[in-house]
Amino acid sequence: MLQQLSAQELPKVEQEMTDFITQYTTQEDLKKSMLYSIEAGGKRIRPLIVLATVQAFQKTLNAPVYQTAGALEMIHTYSLIHDDLPAMDDDDLRRGKPTNHKVFGEALAILAGDGLLTGAFQLISETTLEPTENVLLIQLLAKAAGIGGMVAGQAGDMAAEHQQVSLGELKAIHRGKTGALLTYAFVAGGILAQQPAYVLTLLEKLGGHIGLAFQIRDDLLDVVGTTEALGKQVGQDEKSAKSTYPALLSVAGAKDALEQELAQAQATIEQLTKAAGFQPQVFQELLALFTL
Ligand code: IPE
Ligand code: IPE
Ligand code: MG
Ligand code: MG
Ligand code: MG
Repeated sequence: MLQQLSAQELPKVEQEMTDFITQYTTQEDLKKSMLYSIEAGGKRIRPLIVLATVQAFQKTLNAPVYQTAGALEMIHTYSLIHDDLPAMDDDDLRRGKPTNHKVFGEALAILAGDGLLTGAFQLISETTLEPTENVLLIQLLAKAAGIGGMVAGQAGDMAAEHQQVSLGELKAIHRGKTGALLTYAFVAGGILAQQPAYVLTLLEKLGGHIGLAFQIRDDLLDVVGTTEALGKQVGQDEKSAKSTYPALLSVAGAKDALEQELAQAQATIEQLTKAAGFQPQVFQELLALFTL
């Protein structure tokens, strides 16, 4: 099921992104820089969650779904370009390729990020969705990506370098920098599948657990993973004295925390099975992606 979504439906999301960038960008260097990072690939986990959620409620995958999923991936890609800048994590390798600023220079990398961020909102605003649904998707994306979500989490991440933070503070950072966009993927899928408020609340809860699990796993892979498999340099968190789960709780403690979050995600999926028309299989397959 998930395999089919990846193989047959994700290319349509990719097409929306490249068509949008190609159609609207009037400056060649900027276009090349944005397409470089978008076409470098990545796991595409956020758009896959949007598609999987719509499919779990047995609704049709259509252009507005691909466009919303594409907008989310554009924002995620912008966050990676900026995350890699020398002023932030100072990384040279991303998605198996030199980072955007290594190829295009810092100024264009900053602008490519700006372009993907603002373009994402233009892309969603141009869907054929009903205005209320459309504005809600835009508003929630702004909240997730912005000053109470991802940007705030990234600021917290930078402030926590070389600092001893509590587990509560670390969770708040991870929920912001990573959890917010992943949560949006589930909730947006629910909105696109016309789900009632109580289902959206459960999807938000599920996204919270998956989002935290995802960053715990990312922190663990920076310690136990390989550069070849991840397409990004490992060992960077320790080098920058980042506050991470393994740094705070040890590798074993971080693995426990990951398992706990996944168990809570599983429990939330079980709660969702009471919702009308919900088919859990695709979510079960999704959950398997977040184990180590
Ligand atoms: C990396 O995200 C940044 C984090 C939020 C941990 P992904 O692991 O989803 O990166 P790509 O999209 O696959 O490259
Ligand atoms: C990045 O977290 C989160 C965002 C990009 C918002 P990390 O800094 O841990 O991500 P990687 O490890 O560089 O992919
Ligand atoms: Mg970072
Ligand atoms: Mg980083
Ligand atoms: Mg990381």
